[in-house]
Amino acid sequence: MAKSSGVSSSGNTITRQIGLSLGADICWAAAYEDILKRLDLAIPHGKDEIRFEASRVTIEPFDLKQPVRYDVVIDRLTHWMHTSREWIKKAVVMDGLYVLNNPWSLQSMEKHTTYAAMMKLGLPVPDTWMIPPKQYAPDLADAPATLGRYARLFDLGKVGAEIGYPMFMKPYDGGAWVGVSRIDNEAALRAAYEKSGQRVMHLQKAVSPFDLFVRAIGIGPQVHLAKYNPDAPLHARYEVAFNFVDGEEYQILSDMCLTINAFFGWEFNSCESLRKDGVFYPIDFANACPDFQVTSLHYHFPFMVKNMLRWSIYCAATKRPMRQNLDWQPFFDIAKKELPYRERLHAYAGVAHERMETKRFEEFCQQHLSHLDDVVLDYFGTPRAKEVVEQKVRALFPAHEVEKFTEHFYGLVQFWRKTEAERLAAKRVKPDARQQETTKIKLVRKS
Ligand SMILES: Nc1ncnc2c1ncn2[C@@H]1O[C@H](COP(=O)(O)OP(=O)(O)O)[C@@H](O)[C@H]1O
Ligand SMILES: [Mg+2]
Repeated sequence: MAKSSGVSSSGNTITRQIGLSLGADICWAAAYEDILKRLDLAIPHGKDEIRFEASRVTIEPFDLKQPVRYDVVIDRLTHWMHTSREWIKKAVVMDGLYVLNNPWSLQSMEKHTTYAAMMKLGLPVPDTWMIPPKQYAPDLADAPATLGRYARLFDLGKVGAEIGYPMFMKPYDGGAWVGVSRIDNEAALRAAYEKSGQRVMHLQKAVSPFDLFVRAIGIGPQVHLAKYNPDAPLHARYEVAFNFVDGEEYQILSDMCLTINAFFGWEFNSCESLRKDGVFYPIDFANACPDFQVTSLHYHFPFMVKNMLRWSIYCAATKRPMRQNLDWQPFFDIAKKELPYRERLHAYAGVAHERMETKRFEEFCQQHLSHLDDVVLDYFGTPRAKEVVEQKVRALFPAHEVEKFTEHFYGLVQFWRKTEAERLAAKRVKPDARQQETTKIKLVRKS
């Protein structure tokens, strides 16, 4: 872990340090560092100017009183690397570090709490039950006595009938599809429970049939939507699709994602929703270390890198303080008013926008990051960007498939460059297009 002082200042230049706390990440971190260098920012700050440096957070012994040199850390390790998590926690408490995401929230909130909380706010989470595990660890000395006294025998078939088929059995704290099964009848439910071992499971009513699966990926106040196909092979699940939702649906998904993220103190999270009969049901939204690899995001990858750059630079430049607690009351106060769903969601999103400083952030981007779009567009056409894609492919695919998949993913990134160039050209013709977009959204929100 780095040892020097907080903000290093020489003459009129203040350097904000952004730390990348990484695991197996390769591609986004390399692209992030490359683009940050190419941006070559010098943001005026009174008489001074603010510049930015990114470096990688190391794992090593640390003195709890040892200052950290980072202003912002983008963390990808908290959910499993405890040394890094505890270093981050001490750095937030003792050194005023700003971290994406809140490590305490990430540590303590599983799917289960997020379902409960969003049900309480009135989001249409499908009916969900928790069932005690089939087995307990043999070394839990008190388990036999506790279970003998208090565990009630239950009829799994009755629970199944109450929820209705089809349903999903999935770990209450799960991720990455581990232990998830679709269940169509009582026999399958009993069989899945027999196999579930020591895991505490949820049974959740299936949203079935659904006609659209969307992942809403929030980074700060920015929400990017991607159409998703859970049945496709891993590298093709994110689809390249346009106009798959209308303006109102976009707003619902965006408001839902921001509500969830602000509620839990997450600034980088992916929220999965399924649409059935025109209603979006959120089914998985405790993903606060979401996929950030070009090998799954492909076309969407540059959007994500760009959104991460914007938000982390904003947080570092403004020294935005980290929220010290989650403060759920404003959300519950809105819930109590029993407003119609759309108005209620809009009100929750209002709290989120306030917490995420959306307006100030947008002004900051317009003022200081207006060249970002062009820099990113150029970068992803360079041999270096291709090399970065190849490095990630090499880490995941067998040697004989490296060339094919490098071309595949880099090709999709080039397709992004084509659509992005068109978007930027249209914006140049109509410089107020962004303004008009915002107005349109506001009109939709009011209706
Ligand atoms: N209630 C549900 N209705 C329909 N499909 C579901 C439901 N819950 C889970 N699934 C399917 O199972 C997959 C994995 O479940 P999910 O809750 O996303 O777990 P994980 O956290 O492991 O991604 C989802 O992407 C979706 O395809
Ligand atoms: Mg999921």
